[in-house]
Amino acid sequence: MSDDAKSLAPSRRQFLTGAAAAGAGAVAAGAARAATPDPLITEVQEWASGLGEGVDATPYGMPIQFESDVVRRNVEWLTADTISSINFTPIHALDGTITPQGCAFERHHSGAIELRKEDYRLMINGLVETPLVFTYEDLERFPRENRVYFCECAANSGMEWAGAQLNGAQFTHGMIHNMEYSGVSLRTLLEEAGVSPEGKWVYVEGADASSNGRSIPLEKAMDDVLVAFKANGEALRKEHGYPVRLVVPGWEGNMWVKWLRRVEVMDQPVESREETSKYTDTLANGVSRKWTWEMDAKSVVTSPSPQAPIKHGKGPLVITGLAWSGRGSITGVDVSLDGGKSWQEARLAAPGTDKALTRFYLDINWDGSEMLLQARAKDSSGYVQPTKAQLREVRGLNSIYHNNAIQTWWVKANGEAENVEVS
Ligand code: MTE
Ligand code: CO
Repeated sequence: MSDDAKSLAPSRRQFLTGAAAAGAGAVAAGAARAATPDPLITEVQEWASGLGEGVDATPYGMPIQFESDVVRRNVEWLTADTISSINFTPIHALDGTITPQGCAFERHHSGAIELRKEDYRLMINGLVETPLVFTYEDLERFPRENRVYFCECAANSGMEWAGAQLNGAQFTHGMIHNMEYSGVSLRTLLEEAGVSPEGKWVYVEGADASSNGRSIPLEKAMDDVLVAFKANGEALRKEHGYPVRLVVPGWEGNMWVKWLRRVEVMDQPVESREETSKYTDTLANGVSRKWTWEMDAKSVVTSPSPQAPIKHGKGPLVITGLAWSGRGSITGVDVSLDGGKSWQEARLAAPGTDKALTRFYLDINWDGSEMLLQARAKDSSGYVQPTKAQLREVRGLNSIYHNNAIQTWWVKANGEAENVEVS
């Protein structure tokens, strides 16, 4: 910025504050009409009075400072420390379907490790003809695939089982991200090693201290599982498993092993900690459901929502949200403004794709009265997302994981929204 521009800046800023207030009034009335001169248009602005930044200022870009509140957040009381912990994607502030890696939720059992590509090894052993070890460069030489999938932690919405608790879509539904992965199909690597006829399961583990070991049926391992090294076109970020992670489409996030180091072909599952004492659901009668791998269809209105209130008053309102299913694709989303009494079909931004997030919109003319806003997802298996009451009837109240119930936001006449339950 030139010195001239700097000396002009303070007075212009004062001027702009006034203009912003006047502008807001115009929008509330409907479309903004060019009735009175708007200094943002008629005056030469600070940003046009000097030079911008050069191309050498930002070798790798971060979001502009005005978007600095669109970040992952955690819930302090949820975990004892930030190492074995979780944070949440700011889904209330994103649009489209692809989650930028920089704000995609993280879940680590023993922290995010730094593992250089040169030090990376992937071993395939157990019931195979030839045990193999791959370097990162070896993996790059196998035929590659690009696919978009959501990854949802089984604990997503877990804090909402007993009642409405956290005030924001980021916290109630933000243990999810959706990325385009590039990698090699696990099937290709398993075929390279040659699976023995007795092989029925694979046990996958990571290179971090927790290892996060999980058993996966061979059928799934040979189906659509990816050994991925790129996400959204760039290398995986450290926190998402650099240099290589497993992508297990539609199945709970815990199975998406990061820093993948070993795949052992076995004739039975390991019954590891992560698949027995964790990620299982204890029913009312004390019996626990296990092998609950597939994430059932689910949706949430991301805006308006508690962190994304309506600021423009009544009139045209874009209601939007996300829907997904681990059992296939989203075929439709219904939206209710009255707590589930009546439903309208939302518009899907694009037809649902297999095990990926779908964006929906409902464009309404809001009359300014309060709403009990809900979304209900339907998937290609014919499944319809249940209400909280329906889910509790089947699963009781002991569960933490796999809560895919319909969410309600109470949108008040002033545009603010709150997390509530309807009975
Ligand atoms: N893999 C390893 N090696 N260590 C871990 O702690 N956490 C799991 C899974 N893979 C974990 C792991 C859990 S519970 C989830 S929900 C996903 O990674 C989260 O992936 P993300 O951190 O990229 O969002
Ligand atoms: Co998880």
